[in-house]
Amino acid sequence: MKSPNVIRQRAAVSRPRRETLNGHMSINLWFTGLSGSGKSTLAHAIEERLHLMGCRTYVFDGDNVRHGLCGDLGFTLKDRSENMRRIAEMVNLFLDAGVISLTAFISPLKADRELVQQIIGPENLIEVYCNCSLEICEKRDVKGLYKKARAGEIKNYTGISSPYEAPTNPDIELDTGTRPLRECVNDIIKELRERGIIL
Ligand code: PPS
Repeated sequence: MKSPNVIRQRAAVSRPRRETLNGHMSINLWFTGLSGSGKSTLAHAIEERLHLMGCRTYVFDGDNVRHGLCGDLGFTLKDRSENMRRIAEMVNLFLDAGVISLTAFISPLKADRELVQQIIGPENLIEVYCNCSLEICEKRDVKGLYKKARAGEIKNYTGISSPYEAPTNPDIELDTGTRPLRECVNDIIKELRERGIIL
């Protein structure tokens, strides 16, 4: 999205200078998966590990962002799309700030995830698919929302009355239904090392 008559300001302190100071590159880890698939748990666990390694990090998840920046949005497909767009723009600012951002949103539609890739740039983003069956997510039902959705008390609930289109070609796919959290965290840290994002 472009604003007319607004000219971009160039910062004296650039992204590469911030990355050099930080001792790591900036990147976005974009987690996608059903509600209860472990996106937030995984994102926070990875952040903890990176933080202990001295990296500058920040986690955004649906539950928090939807209380503020996206507090005006609901769960229609149109609102979810706008949710994605705003988060992607925010990720861009964090990339520029030299930070490793971890975004944990259901991001159910392929078209919206493609838009996110366009806004952020595929080279700046690692898509992580938290693959956990609806059956397991529903059994976990940590927040009791699946029960409400089944009872018709919540409309447009992902997996029940609203679609989730699983990624066909994610950068990383993790079986978050059965694999231990520590193993999933290790996989991501390994990937960040292999890509030269962190040392
Ligand atoms: S989306 O689809 O990416 O815009 O959703 P997101 O911003 O990640 O928000 C998902 C969290 O909101 C809670 N919630 C719902 N999820 C799905 N569908 C409906 N209708 C809904 N209503 C509330 C739910 O707790 C999700 O949290 P997670 O962490 O995914 O379990």
